[in-house]
Amino acid sequence: MSWQSVTRADSIAAGAAKEFTIETAQGPLELFIINTNGQFHAYKNRCPHTGVTLNWLPSQFLDIDNRYIQCSTHGALFRIQDGYCVRGPCAGASLTSLPLKIEHGTIWVEIA
Ligand code: FES
Repeated sequence: MSWQSVTRADSIAAGAAKEFTIETAQGPLELFIINTNGQFHAYKNRCPHTGVTLNWLPSQFLDIDNRYIQCSTHGALFRIQDGYCVRGPCAGASLTSLPLKIEHGTIWVEIA
């Protein structure tokens, strides 16, 4: 396990999400980070239904009401706070969350 810096916290506006690809010992890791009122959450960008990336437009991860993370392929909805799928073909499954910390304004995620 190791911590890797990803971005400045102030680069992700409140209510917005942003995608990143970082290099790890296992190869590139696609992830995204969501800022909900100053609470940041990081997830691997993989839908538990088929393993595809969740978004089809750059950094577009939320549904039309900005209440859930939505998979663009089959429309599964995931809670922002814990990645749990509440509706869709993978209901009951969860996104893979990544431990996140903020130090001196920089967001770090823990990589297995
Ligand atoms: S690939 Fe995400 S819901 Fe089917």
